[in-house]
Amino acid sequence: MDTAEIRRRFTAHFERAGHTAVPSASLLLDDPNLLFVNAGMVPFKPYFLGQETPPYDRAVSVQKCVRTPDIEDVGKTTRHGTFFEMCGNFSFGDYFKEGAIELGWDLVTRSIEDGGFGLAEDRLYPSVLAGDDEALELWQKVTGFPEHRIVKLGPKENYWSMGVPGPGGPCSEILYDRGPAHGPEADWEAMGTAMDPALEDRYLEIWNLVFMQDELSAVRSKEDFDIAGSLPKKNIDTGMGLERVAYLLQGRQNMYEIDVMFPVIEKAMELTGRRYGAGGEQGHTDDVRFRVVADHVRSSMMLISDGVTPGNEARGYVLRRLLRRAVRSMRLLGYEDRALPELLPISRDKMAETYTDLHRDWDRISAVAYAEEDAFRQTLRAGTAIFDLATTEVKQSGGSQLSGAKAFSLHDTYGFPIDLTLEMAGEQGLSVDEEGFRRLMTEQRDRAKADARAKKGQHRDATAYREVADGLGRPVEFTGYGEVVTEGSVRGIVTPSGTVESAREGDEIELVLDRTPFYAEGGGQLADQGVIELGNGARVEVRDVQSPITGLIVHQAVVVSGEVTLGVDAHSVVDVARRRSISRSHTATHMVHKAFREALGDTATQAGSENSPGRFRFDFSATGAVPASVMADVEARVNDLVLDDLAVHAEIMTQEEAVKSGAMALFGEKYGDEVRVISVGDWARELCGGTHAPRSGQLGVIKLLGESSIGSGVRRVEALVGNDAYRFLAREHVLVAQLSEALKVPSEQLPERVHDIVDRLRAAEKEIEKVRVQQLLGTGAEIADRAADVAGARVVAHRADGAGGGDVRQLALDVRGRLPAGQPGVVVVIGTADDKVSVVAAVNDAARERGLSANALVGTIGPLVGGRGGGKDDLAQGGGSDASRVDEALALVGSEVGRALGA
Ligand code: ALA
Repeated sequence: MDTAEIRRRFTAHFERAGHTAVPSASLLLDDPNLLFVNAGMVPFKPYFLGQETPPYDRAVSVQKCVRTPDIEDVGKTTRHGTFFEMCGNFSFGDYFKEGAIELGWDLVTRSIEDGGFGLAEDRLYPSVLAGDDEALELWQKVTGFPEHRIVKLGPKENYWSMGVPGPGGPCSEILYDRGPAHGPEADWEAMGTAMDPALEDRYLEIWNLVFMQDELSAVRSKEDFDIAGSLPKKNIDTGMGLERVAYLLQGRQNMYEIDVMFPVIEKAMELTGRRYGAGGEQGHTDDVRFRVVADHVRSSMMLISDGVTPGNEARGYVLRRLLRRAVRSMRLLGYEDRALPELLPISRDKMAETYTDLHRDWDRISAVAYAEEDAFRQTLRAGTAIFDLATTEVKQSGGSQLSGAKAFSLHDTYGFPIDLTLEMAGEQGLSVDEEGFRRLMTEQRDRAKADARAKKGQHRDATAYREVADGLGRPVEFTGYGEVVTEGSVRGIVTPSGTVESAREGDEIELVLDRTPFYAEGGGQLADQGVIELGNGARVEVRDVQSPITGLIVHQAVVVSGEVTLGVDAHSVVDVARRRSISRSHTATHMVHKAFREALGDTATQAGSENSPGRFRFDFSATGAVPASVMADVEARVNDLVLDDLAVHAEIMTQEEAVKSGAMALFGEKYGDEVRVISVGDWARELCGGTHAPRSGQLGVIKLLGESSIGSGVRRVEALVGNDAYRFLAREHVLVAQLSEALKVPSEQLPERVHDIVDRLRAAEKEIEKVRVQQLLGTGAEIADRAADVAGARVVAHRADGAGGGDVRQLALDVRGRLPAGQPGVVVVIGTADDKVSVVAAVNDAARERGLSANALVGTIGPLVGGRGGGKDDLAQGGGSDASRVDEALALVGSEVGRALGA
């Protein structure tokens, strides 16, 4: 049964039972606790927590998920994928344990002809949380199994939470016995309540039914957590691993061999010439690499599709790691060409049957992935050179081990992966001090963690926020789209030590109101600032505004006077000038985004932005530098539309309507959600929660300052808007006027004039140089005349201040040529220029015949001026840095010559 059919049957089964089918949400839902959506229930979290009212009591979904903590296990076990799809049915206060067990059991055991998965009952083992007698009895009732057929497990397996404060509850897993080929037979009684890892491959968990009833306030580990209370309603959350069921129903050995993944392995086999499943030790190592390729290619493609770009932090880093691990695995399999252009399209063709965006956004997705591979290949090239150097050194010094420090620097400075270092060192017959490497890695990780903690500083534990949100009972009302002054009341005060009832003058607090006009930083738009005047006369200055959990707006503020207490009235006043300026930047960003898409095509999608007062930053996908002509065209286009004074308006519609209306869908929206669409005239239309100028005319001027690369496939444009753009242009104008005045030409002739001046300057410098050399050489005859007589030899020791190496040499040769040829002649010139000392010795043939050597002279004199050098017997040259002993060095020449001639 192919994956698509399993998906269809799952959805149809629950639709028949009254569930609303909800499409998968993006992998990037806004949740401060999660890097990626990692379970089917994540998009429904506000419903489980009672923060929002669900529009249905029952839902079914097949949700894309990414989990990367087990990245090292990928390919080694049968069931760890970084990207996977979770089939789930959900009940929000509707059916509970019995309904969930009945519906789940029915689907897995119902015959294939009858629309089910046809799994044999005698292979299935339900499990319960030890002590959950209700679930135990229900399973017996529904399956007809005796009690001992139902496995009792501890909280590690059978209590589910998201690993962070939030909803949780006891659960039941359905295990499938794959048979004796996959491990020993279980003796459940003897095992106790902790799952024996030796059984996990054979008794495969295919479905987890969570009886979600608790709200957790702290989660320290799977077994150690605090239950703060009961959820408002009892809910059901289940997760069936689509890939796991697929590999059972497709008779495959593991998730990497199913219909939507194996074609990538087949392609990798073709490219590398190696065989998957070849057996033996090498074969096993290769198999793991093939599986890593299949998994990571798919995961990275899905992440890019949802808007992630490779980077060095958070989500971007995960993506970078996946892409690089895929490329590296291909390399370790012996394939050194660009691999992704061969593999990614195969994965796309399989996944696009469900995720049609992959076709629509293909240009962008492939550009991002391929650019990252190219950058990594560059890294590998540079790293290989350093590696070769290091191994040569080790070998030359008779060693057999590459140091941990070297391996670490290859990894840290050159991005060279440790397993590649290990592999390549092995090929050279060297070992690597892995322990040393790991120690350095740990040290670095600890440093990074400490840094992150320090940076987060004021980011409180979410518990305090949740407490405030619960007290409030509904989301904070944001009034800032329509007004900048709002009446409300104080509903929460958070300090580093938790929630408090009051705060005094000078305190730094996080303040929550029931209604606020203050915009919390989000969607690239910076937060509002301003003041809040309280009913009791106290006054608070708002410096930053954040939304740490959905539905909560938190003002980071300082109490400037009086006392802030819970319940008191609050008169909030936004700093209007700042807000307007930020809004103008935000509208300008939309306009520039649209104009770039017009100019460069739809692949120029936004990858990030920051809208601050008077200026904005806009990052977008593009494969190379944006030509200056495009920058100029985009700037002209948006400024034309500023003058057209287009009306900017906001509308609320469903996501489907928004897409239909041509809005650029950004990432992180939940399907089926109501979205806010901002239109600038009929021209630029975008999903956006930010604030905007009412008309494009208010932007005044938009000035693009330039563009640059900020990572593979991503360009950054910085720009000014309104007054700031005007002031920038005015400053430039003054600058040009000053130049024009100084150079005495009209401004349009400035470039030509400056060129002209630079050319003339260069010619003049050349001329000066020529004259200088001529002058220097002009002194040659005079210097030769002053030669001293030392034991029958003519000896010149001359100091030439201001002469560099080349000049000194020319002068020495010139002087030597002027000495009488029949008599031994020795010339030493020492030049000083720019803190450098140049020593040149030149001796003639007659002197050499008497045993004098220029090389020996430089060898003796050089060290005196702090340098070394050498050359031949007739001419030698050296350099030094100590000009203070030049005279001393010159004084030595005569005595050296005398000594050599035996005088
Ligand atoms: N949320 C549950 C899980 O992820 C179903 O296993």
